[in-house]
Amino acid sequence: MKPLETYDGTIERTLFTQQEIADAIERLAHSIAADFAGQPLLLIGVLKGALYVTVDLVRALSTVAGGPSEIHVDYMAVSSYGNENRSSGEVRMLKDTMQNIAGRNVVIVEDIVDNGLTLDYLQGILQQREPKALKSCVLFDKPYNRRVDVHVDYIGLTAPDAFVVGYGLDYQEAYRNLPYLAQLHSWVFSEKTD
Ligand code: IMP
Repeated sequence: MKPLETYDGTIERTLFTQQEIADAIERLAHSIAADFAGQPLLLIGVLKGALYVTVDLVRALSTVAGGPSEIHVDYMAVSSYGNENRSSGEVRMLKDTMQNIAGRNVVIVEDIVDNGLTLDYLQGILQQREPKALKSCVLFDKPYNRRVDVHVDYIGLTAPDAFVVGYGLDYQEAYRNLPYLAQLHSWVFSEKTD
């Protein structure tokens, strides 16, 4: 893996530190635990970005006293951005869940919600499968450019109206490994290629 210093010079500023993100996940875990106290819960992380928050959220949830009776994890993969830093507006399913969700308590875990199309698509697909409860948890919210009025039950932090990277979020597959959320210099988007 590249050392973090490799990205020096392209990062304009840190938006949320590793500690601020950890605190936000702890708050999300407490809210979810309260809503599903004593009940089994299935978390569905949306690959690839939400892999990171899903793992940390599952760990945090497991330590909340009086939380869910059992925690199960599954993943879906969708593509909405391709390799660009703006949405194509088209959401495609790349990988479905491996578990049945009918009759189960389900929380979708997303890294970020921007125009809302991805989460709206996922909610639509999963709702058709008749879960007992379906809620959505998003670590970073960018509420500025919604194209659909999607409902989010649990929001961690509100990010600025910019393309952000780190903590799972990428630009052309780079930067996911940053433990913090960052904004890149605008010149990166015109100069960087695969
Ligand atoms: P939406 O469909 O516009 O709400 O975007 C959801 C998906 O787009 C997320 O799961 C991310 O993969 C990607 N995305 C949206 N905003 C950003 C960003 O600022 N940085 C990196 N990826 C983003």
